[in-house]
Amino acid sequence: MTAARVKSRPDLRRQRRQRAHGCWNHLIVAPLWPKHGVNLGTMLRTCDAVGACMAVPRLPWIPDALAHGNTLRKPQCVHWINGRVDRWLARQRSGGSAIVGVELTDESIRLADLPVARRRTVIVLGHESTGIPAEGLELLDVAVEIPMVGTGHSLNVAVAGSLVLYKLAGLC
Ligand SMILES: C[S@@+](CC[C@H](N)C(=O)[O-])C[C@H]1O[C@@H](n2cnc3c(N)ncnc32)[C@H](O)[C@@H]1O
Repeated sequence: MTAARVKSRPDLRRQRRQRAHGCWNHLIVAPLWPKHGVNLGTMLRTCDAVGACMAVPRLPWIPDALAHGNTLRKPQCVHWINGRVDRWLARQRSGGSAIVGVELTDESIRLADLPVARRRTVIVLGHESTGIPAEGLELLDVAVEIPMVGTGHSLNVAVAGSLVLYKLAGLC
């Protein structure tokens, strides 16, 4: 291989969309019990990269956190959830969406075994300290675990969500 050249910003700009994608309604990442705004901003950036939308509860601090965390500066696809998030999730499921939980459970499949999403899929992320609560776990079709060989218990939630989004989008 000849010496590689890092792509320039104009190169990258030519390869990318001019505007943020609209709502494709295919992959919806759902940090339903968020704690840190910075993780929402990071997830929003991955959503843009893979063509996903985000669903979040309309808690008072979240619109501001998303506005600050959206370093892309273009409006992104956000679905606001009013009321109980478990009821929202139940509605997604009864409406035919696949519900994939990103969580370390004793029934989780490994990330490598997760197939590309072929229908509308909601990807549920857990709370930064306490994970996905029982009422969320009950509604999952499948849970996926990202294998780890290090000393930490878990990954940062935005890193975990991003890896799963890439796999479901078929981009890795
Ligand atoms: C920091 S973890 C939750 C804390 C975790 N219960 C613990 O005891 O360390 C936050 C969220 O990130 C996701 N997560 C982190 N690491 C993961 C992994 N290896 N596999 C799947 N999900 C993971 C899950 O959605 C989890 O609920």
